[in-house]
Amino acid sequence: MSNTSSDTTEDESLITTEVETGSANWSPALGETAVAARDLNVFYGDEQAIDDVSIEIPEKRVTALIGPSGCGKSTFLRCINRMNDMIDVCRVEGDVEFGGKNVYDADVDPVALRRKIGMVFQKPNPFPKSIRDNVAYGLKIQGYDGDVDARVEESLKGAALWDEVKDQLDSSGLDLSGGQQQRLCIARAIAPDPEVILMDEPTSALDPVAASKIEDLIDDLAEEYTVIIVTHNMQQAARISDRTAVFLTGGQLVEYDDTAKIFEDPEEQRVEDYITGKFG
Ligand SMILES: Nc1ncnc2c1ncn2[C@@H]1O[C@H](COP(=O)(O)OP(=O)(O)OP(=O)(O)O)[C@@H](O)[C@H]1O
Ligand SMILES: [Mg+2]
Repeated sequence: MSNTSSDTTEDESLITTEVETGSANWSPALGETAVAARDLNVFYGDEQAIDDVSIEIPEKRVTALIGPSGCGKSTFLRCINRMNDMIDVCRVEGDVEFGGKNVYDADVDPVALRRKIGMVFQKPNPFPKSIRDNVAYGLKIQGYDGDVDARVEESLKGAALWDEVKDQLDSSGLDLSGGQQQRLCIARAIAPDPEVILMDEPTSALDPVAASKIEDLIDDLAEEYTVIIVTHNMQQAARISDRTAVFLTGGQLVEYDDTAKIFEDPEEQRVEDYITGKFG
C-alpha cells in the first residue's frame, strides 16, 4: 500500500512508516486501502464485542457495516478513530492501520487522528452555537490560519446545506430541522479536511425525505472521502454502498464483499438469513 496521506503537511501527518498490506480477496479495481483492521479484538471488561476481525476498507468508496443489534458495529466504527479510548472498560487488541500506521501506536495523537477520521452519529448533535461556529469548530481547535469563512462555505456546500442556511449563518445550529442538523454535523466533520468519515446510523432518526438527501450526499462525499457507514436499513446499504461487511452476534465479521454479491448471492447461509429478515 502506498502512503495515502502524501498531501498532508509534515506535522499533521500520522505516518512514520510504510506498511505492506494485501489480502487474497483484494480486488485491484477498488484501489488503495484507506483503513485496515488486523486481528482486532475488543472487550468491555470481560465481554468480548469484536472477535478477531480483519478487514481492508477501500478509499473513496462507501463501505456499509450491517448486522443485528449488539453485534459490535458501533464498537468497530469507534475503534477506527479511537473513540473507544473514552470508554474506561474498553480494551482494544490488534491493529487498525490508517495511512500505513497503526492508530494504536503510542505516538499517535487521537485528536489529530480524529481530524483525519471524522464521525457523524445517529442523533444529530450540533453544538449550541451558530451555524458558522459549528462548522468552524474543528478549524479553531486545529489553529487553522486560512480563510475560515471560505472553508465554512465550502464545507456547507459539501454537505449540501449552503443554499438553505447561507443567510442565517449566525443563527443557532439547534434551530435547524433534524435533517438540516445532520447535514450541519456532516459539514462540521468535513471542515478539517478529513480522509475518512465514519457514520453510525446517520439517517435512522430522520424522516424519509431528509434521509434520502443524506443518502444522495453520501454518494457525493465518496468522490472525495472514504465513507464507512453503519446502517440497519438493508435497502440503504444496498443503494449507497460499494462494499458491505456483515457482522453477526459475537462481534464476528462473517462476510465482506462487493455489495451486490452480499445482497444477491452471499456465500454464507447466515448472511442470507439475516438479509432476508429470517433473524436479527
Ligand atoms: N460502553 C459500553 N460498555 C459496556 N459494554 C458495551 C458498551 N458499548 C457496547 N457494549 C457492548 O458491546 C456489544 C456491541 O455493542 P455495539 O454498540 O458495538 O453494537 P451495535 O452492533 O452497534 O448495536 P446496535 O445495532 O444496537 O447499535 C454489546 O454487547 C454491547 O452491550
Ligand atoms: Mg450501534
